[in-house]
Amino acid sequence: MEMDTEAEIENELAIEEILKEFARPVIPAEIIKFFADDQGKTLLVKGTPGSGKTAFALSLLRSMKGTGVYLSTRVDSATLHEQYPWIREEIPGENIVDATQSESVSSQSSKARGAVIKALKYTDVPEFLKSVYTKTEDLRKPIVIIDSWDAVVSHTGYNNPGEREKLENQLCNFARRTKTRVIFIVEYMDLKPLDYFTDGIIVTEGEIEEERRIRTMTLQKLRGCAIRHPSYLFSLHNGMFKCFSDFRPAKIENPKVPAPIPDVNGPGVTTGIKDLDALIRGYGSFNLFKADYAPYELLMQAASINSLNLGRGVVFTSSKQLRLKNKILPFVEPRYQENVTVIDVHKTDINEFNKNISDFNERLSGEKKMAFFNFDEVERDNKEEMVKELIPALMKDKFTVFGSTSEEKGMGREMEPIASVFILLEMISGVPCMYGKMPMTEIYVMQLSTANRFPEIKLTPIV
Ligand SMILES: Nc1ncnc2c1ncn2[C@@H]1O[C@H](COP(=O)(O)OP(=O)(O)O)[C@@H](O)[C@H]1O
Ligand SMILES: [Mg+2]
Repeated sequence: MEMDTEAEIENELAIEEILKEFARPVIPAEIIKFFADDQGKTLLVKGTPGSGKTAFALSLLRSMKGTGVYLSTRVDSATLHEQYPWIREEIPGENIVDATQSESVSSQSSKARGAVIKALKYTDVPEFLKSVYTKTEDLRKPIVIIDSWDAVVSHTGYNNPGEREKLENQLCNFARRTKTRVIFIVEYMDLKPLDYFTDGIIVTEGEIEEERRIRTMTLQKLRGCAIRHPSYLFSLHNGMFKCFSDFRPAKIENPKVPAPIPDVNGPGVTTGIKDLDALIRGYGSFNLFKADYAPYELLMQAASINSLNLGRGVVFTSSKQLRLKNKILPFVEPRYQENVTVIDVHKTDINEFNKNISDFNERLSGEKKMAFFNFDEVERDNKEEMVKELIPALMKDKFTVFGSTSEEKGMGREMEPIASVFILLEMISGVPCMYGKMPMTEIYVMQLSTANRFPEIKLTPIV
């Protein structure tokens, strides 16, 4: 192998870190722990059609490489590969079993598609179980995913509820005895005997809110396992299940100044976040945010660090933002650190504020600047009239102006007509999320990466 330079190695490691964080399916830690011991376990996965059960099952199998089989009883393997193209690369063919009982499943058609898919033929449930057992008996701690169990039962005409219950009970006991991990995917949503037999139950849901889909996975029970998060936000982006764990801003040791991101083509001012620039084409001259504080701080931080490193000025208008100012300074080039200032709108009158702004402008070489207002605080201090006068003046003066409000009323509502960007920022299941009302966007999870020693935000759509 060629000798890599240290920088190249460092870069490779950084890329790997990012891939790990952003591109891979992520299974809730509790479920990984639930399956981590040497016991046989059974898990029931429930959810309405399209809620993500299959994507979850395949992603789980991928993260448990080579130790099990996924039995596809509803969807033939060709369709499965079409819907989830990533499994071709990520899950060995022998781990996927076509159990649809359709006539078209011949080794011929599978071969033609280049996949080593095995078909499973059965006429009754015991025969089904026997063939599954044969497939897994050589594996250590095998995992068997039956997608779906309802389909197996209905294919085989096992419709007598008493018989079905007895069989399910036996199956759960069998899993424990043989240290097999069985995942039953079911299509019913009510409580059935199987809910009591299995060691764990998880439910996938996809709710539509304001025309945007929000997916959550609820951990209902996981025997012998502490459930830290009963509910996870997740996405099926790229057909992979990815859950998001709660947000904890990491302290960055040994901070590094990032190379600034340039403005997008067109009139927009860069947001300091590549993914967001691509999405909304930069900020306009007045930008409104209806926001929970934590996600809004992520946006302010990204915009101000980037702006300063482009040699531009940044004005905070409340002494409460001093904390944020101090937080961003380690990521700003020393020669630009004087370009950020706090001119407190709450402690000045309009003349004094304007005087401070023109002094500030004189010190700067660049033309573009940013100013941040918190409308909740402005309203609390009865400074509305002053700020309503200041904002258009600042906009004329080449400022990109930001206004945030926790509720869409009062000043937030009044300023809406002049906003060219309107973004909603919300914590959902402990995760910072954003979506654009103007321009209209899907809902995105904001993930903070510190792998490169400066705060970096990536957006993942919730699909
Ligand atoms: N590549 C993809 N990109 C975005 N969304 C996808 C992708 N693949 C699947 N989905 C979404 O996942 C849904 C199906 O998920 P699936 O796991 O098959 O649900 P279930 O098994 O619960 O019926 C689809 O309706 C679609 O919205
Ligand atoms: Mg499915």
